[in-house]
Amino acid sequence: MRFHVLTLFPEMLEQGLCQSILGRAVQRGQLSFHMVDIRDYTEDKHGKVDDYPYGGGAGMLMQAQPVYDAYLSVAAEIAAGDSRQGDGEARPGGRVRTIYVTPQGRTFTQRLARELAQEEELVFLCGHYEGVDERVLEEIVTDYVSLGDYVLTGGELPAMVMIDAIARLVPGVLHNGESAEDESFHNDLLEYPQYSRPEVWRGKPVPEVLLSGNHKNIQAWRLERSLERTRQRRPDLYERYQMRQDFIRELAKHKRRYIHLMELLSRDMAWEVCREGKSLLLNVENTQIYVLYAESSQEAGQLLKQCGADRLWEQEHIRILVCQEDVRDFLTERYGLAVGGVCRQACYTRKESLRVQHRDIRPLTVDDLEHVAGRYPTCERAYLRQRLLAGTMYGVYMSGGETSPAGFIGIHEDGSMGMLYVDEAYRRQGLASSLEGWLVNRHLKRGEIPYCRVEDGNLAAMCLQEKLGLCLCGESMWWLEKRKNICKNFL
Ligand code: ADE
Repeated sequence: MRFHVLTLFPEMLEQGLCQSILGRAVQRGQLSFHMVDIRDYTEDKHGKVDDYPYGGGAGMLMQAQPVYDAYLSVAAEIAAGDSRQGDGEARPGGRVRTIYVTPQGRTFTQRLARELAQEEELVFLCGHYEGVDERVLEEIVTDYVSLGDYVLTGGELPAMVMIDAIARLVPGVLHNGESAEDESFHNDLLEYPQYSRPEVWRGKPVPEVLLSGNHKNIQAWRLERSLERTRQRRPDLYERYQMRQDFIRELAKHKRRYIHLMELLSRDMAWEVCREGKSLLLNVENTQIYVLYAESSQEAGQLLKQCGADRLWEQEHIRILVCQEDVRDFLTERYGLAVGGVCRQACYTRKESLRVQHRDIRPLTVDDLEHVAGRYPTCERAYLRQRLLAGTMYGVYMSGGETSPAGFIGIHEDGSMGMLYVDEAYRRQGLASSLEGWLVNRHLKRGEIPYCRVEDGNLAAMCLQEKLGLCLCGESMWWLEKRKNICKNFL
């Protein structure tokens, strides 16, 4: 991921960001920073970049021209990079996200950090003095973001904070993949207390359970402490967590049918668009996927009316997953959505990990795009590229020296397992079972329930689920969509 920062103090960011974990990620080529000194772009012969505000008032404003020209140089560089890549993919949403850090923006959160970490390039604009000429902001800014309700002397410190929070979520930047999951704000809970040597310090011993070596007990203790700490320090988060857990328990009564909702909620991958009584509309974070939970078309209608869903369907690529036939009919008739796919869910509800015969399974990278896209035409190339960049596709290799995998599997943007493929020459050797078994085990280790969707009528996929011990749901569910499907999110 590449960060471009438009600033009057490039050294400040270089010193702050190129150390420690982020510095090492730069050396490994996972991150890069491009600091642009706005002063280099001024047309003023004395190097001036600020002037008095029209209408009077205290302080100086950063002028439009140097900021705009600095931005144009960055935009040109990004465009040149895109064409060098030559994969013809248009940037989703057209323009590169350009963030103006300002106390007048929406507040920066872990959720926004996760959203921005999906981008390949980000531009930050750091203001100084009393602000920036409004006209250039109108031209270039896509997001106004604040660190909090207080005023700092400039945008450099907030930009550094935001960049740090975003960069550490980029796949590979943190070595231990789990550390981004355990920490504060994941799943609305604050992190548990931690201890290191010595065992006793100033008469205070380390809690005994942590020395026991019993991982189950340690996990239970940590969850208990997280809950206690959240309840005491952040009662607002605690209440949200409790409401979510209550709902998940309710859904668990029909696990096969609602496993997608349970997992979206417990993995904290979706936000609530609206809720009315027992009905709920969720949006899978950073996607155009919506999931509707309503027991009847009447309830669905009330919910959608309440949250102004008519406006929702104006989006070009919207997709919605529904579980009830009458809700499906209501949405297709009322909003003109088309049925894009019929599927069944399958989930693995046991705790034991599966036996994996072919074990040389490794993450694929964007360099594998040609290979994957050529074999998996069910999903759009841009979607596969995004999955590869997110680090959620895995290949199985038959001999260590091979450059291409004999088969692959991935995790869809909604967290379901999918995109399973085995090359013709390697079929009937148990590779599909190995790939899916391996992915099931990976989910189990993270405390998740693995699940997938199979296309209704795909007998081979259904048999594979049964063979691996996944429980297939007896009822169908439907993808409804406004336009063409980007990916069917099937196995
Ligand atoms: N610039 C000055 N104060 C700021 C804040 N609180 N957040 C973001 N940018 C700022």
